[in-house]
Amino acid sequence: MIDMVDKFREQFYKKLRDVNDVKSLEELRLDFLSKKGQVSALMKELSKVPDEKKKEYGRLINNFKKELTDRFEDRKSEIVSLQEKLLIDGAESYDESLPVNCPDGSYHPITLVQRELEDIFESMGFDVEDYNEIVDDYHCFEALNIPEFHPARDMQDTYYLTTPKELLKSHTSAAQNAILKKYGPMLHETGRPIRAVFPGRCFRNEAIDANHENTFFQMEGIMVDKDISISNLIYFMKTMLSEVFGREVTVRLRPGFFPFVEPGFELDIQCLICGGKGCPSCKNSGWLELCPCGMIHPNVLKHGGINTDEEPFKYTGFAFGLGLTRLAMMKYGVGDIRAFNSGDLNTLSQFKSI
Ligand code: PHE
Repeated sequence: MIDMVDKFREQFYKKLRDVNDVKSLEELRLDFLSKKGQVSALMKELSKVPDEKKKEYGRLINNFKKELTDRFEDRKSEIVSLQEKLLIDGAESYDESLPVNCPDGSYHPITLVQRELEDIFESMGFDVEDYNEIVDDYHCFEALNIPEFHPARDMQDTYYLTTPKELLKSHTSAAQNAILKKYGPMLHETGRPIRAVFPGRCFRNEAIDANHENTFFQMEGIMVDKDISISNLIYFMKTMLSEVFGREVTVRLRPGFFPFVEPGFELDIQCLICGGKGCPSCKNSGWLELCPCGMIHPNVLKHGGINTDEEPFKYTGFAFGLGLTRLAMMKYGVGDIRAFNSGDLNTLSQFKSI
């Protein structure tokens, strides 16, 4: 009996560590604390032990039950307050157990996040651009300084069409070349900086789980002008994120490798829940990874027809690739990425109706 309790305790704590949303919390409750759960199974075992041991083991099981219930309730209130804090001002909270109630239809959560970001960037002078989902090898890779056989292609395996060298774009960076070519002449002739964001659906050959999808959304942004530096990148990212989260955010850059930026970074924000001290939602690191970015590689600018080395001006720029799907998960407290493509009205009607 003691061994069983120890074994269940170990299993419980192991599962508890992975519980990050209401759904997995409920699964944990069903596994351990419901009528058909492990604790009830122990109670049933009690009838089989000799009478003189019944009292001792009964107390053991009751204490065990109390311990699990307390830990369960602690984690539950942590998750609830975490979701409340994560919800950005004005966002509706997500609860997939609510009945469908949107007679007029509702927007998809990713559309909502995308529109909000578009408004923020437009207010900072950015143009919003649209781009194809089917692209060619040149735009998706070669123009981005990723030649054939470059190992960086392995991270972005995607779906290839039978047409030679056409594929479903694996990242929104695939639009960079077209945007540079569209706005470059204006930059050279009138000095108007290139400032554009381009949201879009991306595809990758992924093993699907709660955090990975083969179809997801990103929002890319680029800015090119005279003397653009990393400080400009930090300024724009910080301003945009503070706007999205409705409060001042602290950001940090870590080195990150992407062939189309040099230097390249991973931009993290300080955890909004614990303020950087460390908590379950930031895996105790105090930081949340949000957005890869960097200074656009001169080869990418050259492919886009931008003057990188001739006087009178040498143009430089930054690029970032924000995960829209990830942001929507954070904003609405959706624990499982699969909910977005599920077509399940119970889930998708939880958001703002039309
Ligand atoms: N396109 C990259 C990706 O999807 C992200 C990125 C965009 C990195 C812009 C740097 C600059 O992995």
